[in-house]
Amino acid sequence: MDSTANSGREAARPGPEVLRARLLAWYDAAARSLPWRAPPGPGARTDPYFVWLSEVMLQQTTVPHATPYFLAFTRRWPRVTDLAAAEDAEVMAAWAGLGYYARARNLLKCARAVAERHGGRFPATEAELLALPGVGPYTAAAVAAIAFDQPANVVDGNVERVMARLFAVETPLPAGKAEIRARAEAFIIASAGRHGDWAQALMDLGATVCRPGGPDCAACPIAAGCAAHAAGTASRYPLKVKKAERPHRHGVAWVALRDGAVALVRRPDKGLLGGMAALPTSEWRSRAWSRSEMAAAAPAVADWRLAGSVEHVFTHFSLTLDVYVAAADIPDADWRDAATAGDGLPSVFLKALQRGLA
Ligand code: ADE
Repeated sequence: MDSTANSGREAARPGPEVLRARLLAWYDAAARSLPWRAPPGPGARTDPYFVWLSEVMLQQTTVPHATPYFLAFTRRWPRVTDLAAAEDAEVMAAWAGLGYYARARNLLKCARAVAERHGGRFPATEAELLALPGVGPYTAAAVAAIAFDQPANVVDGNVERVMARLFAVETPLPAGKAEIRARAEAFIIASAGRHGDWAQALMDLGATVCRPGGPDCAACPIAAGCAAHAAGTASRYPLKVKKAERPHRHGVAWVALRDGAVALVRRPDKGLLGGMAALPTSEWRSRAWSRSEMAAAAPAVADWRLAGSVEHVFTHFSLTLDVYVAAADIPDADWRDAATAGDGLPSVFLKALQRGLA
């Protein structure tokens, strides 16, 4: 401890055992009630399938956005063996709107591996979990800790932020991850138990108190142990290497209508949104599309009318899609009732369809 650093004017900052006890006491009182979560304390544990499913969804999006998806998935596929038996296309459609569809494909692969290799029960150790398809170090640690109360070091973005502030970690992310992990590891005391609660307490602290924008240090149960708070610099952390800017691309999406139906196509299996239903779309390139270029690339000759454009941000680029509408016949299209054609479409095409039909 660094009591010499403050010349005895302030009490020494408390160590890991004390901070752990304080944060767990805070969690006992303040834990968020979430549909995949058991209440704090010993006793009830969440079904590993629910933990795994929620963690995969939460790597993709926020708690409020993930919650209805989690509820819909678990209503439709209450056990991992039900999900394993589902049709690929149904799962992909149910995932639509969560983004990054490779995760949905891996979700199915993992469910099937649990069903086939493990008799429908998730294995309980981090190492066995890590061996499942699509399960990376974060998910393996989270499931081991939360579902099986194993002493796993669960480090997500929330935990990184909490640790970076608590120890005023000066190495910017991503290089700072190693130090942050080591700092977090010091709190994993195998004999102390409550490993799932500890992981979730850190996540909740990060989400509700030690927030990305502005930390609420007055409400923090472990502020007395926080180096950044002591220095008055909590919002400076975690330091980050500046990211390269996302490139911007332009494309066209065509809304072809015939007898109240709209033409959908299936995207190639490989690549972005692979295998998903989509509107017919042009190449996505750095230069905007002129009307004559649009007409030359269109899937049918028709009186295409510009309905407007929509914006979408993908992980590696942002996109402006110009949306053109016409009565047109497109060979080999999948014609869907315009009223329900949006169900199961990836967000970018849902937005374009809505713009086209407005
Ligand atoms: N974010 C990621 N996993 C979480 C969990 N289990 N509880 C709350 N927030 C989370």
